[in-house]
Amino acid sequence: MKKIIITIDGYSSCGKSTLAKQLARKLDYTYIDSGAMYRAITLYFIQNRIDWVSPEAVVKALADIHLDFVMNVMSGVCEMHLNDENVEHLIREMVIAEKVSEVAAIKEVREFAVAQQKQMGARKGIVMDGRDIGTVVFPHAELKIFMTADIDIRVERRFKELYAKNRNITIEEVKQNLELRDYIDANREISPLRKADDAIILDNSQLSLNDQLELVMQWVEDAT
Ligand code: C5P
Repeated sequence: MKKIIITIDGYSSCGKSTLAKQLARKLDYTYIDSGAMYRAITLYFIQNRIDWVSPEAVVKALADIHLDFVMNVMSGVCEMHLNDENVEHLIREMVIAEKVSEVAAIKEVREFAVAQQKQMGARKGIVMDGRDIGTVVFPHAELKIFMTADIDIRVERRFKELYAKNRNITIEEVKQNLELRDYIDANREISPLRKADDAIILDNSQLSLNDQLELVMQWVEDAT
């Protein structure tokens, strides 16, 4: 089977990364979580009190940011490193989720992240998930998937994930955060979240993980 680029875009908490990881394992591809890059940049901005409303401050800060995906040999999944520190857990916290869409809407931030994402696709054999991967990062990808799911189902999935780590979180908070991020992501000026014309829609509200994988593997076969 020839190696291809698979893009998975869609709303927050649709299960994009779960599907991407399954595909990467099955196909022996590299999985890249593009959202982790925006989260790591947000973490850096917060930790270093960067005034991200100022383009000069953003450009200066980006020059000091080095992002790497490092393979965790135990899990077989790449983890986000920010300036040589593993920040995989820190970037999943609610404080980051609350600000990341604001930071990801900044032109200089997107140019910084997208340039690196494009380079990662040079060797093919890659599954990348995000919001603009099929439209902007890899417009010529062989297989593009646009994921969606019922909002209440998405909220429940994300709540369970976050509650396991933080018992103080409420379902209302999670819902508000998802809705706000989706709104900012879909309405920003640069690279808004939207379905690429040639993307296949995958609504997984009622699909089991196995059925979903089986369906998508069929699309992969058709595309290779
Ligand atoms: O995928 P995840 O939910 O971790 O992404 C976090 C945020 O990063 C999104 O809500 C969005 O604002 C931003 N993002 C983006 N473009 C991407 C991936 C993520 O703007 N390709």
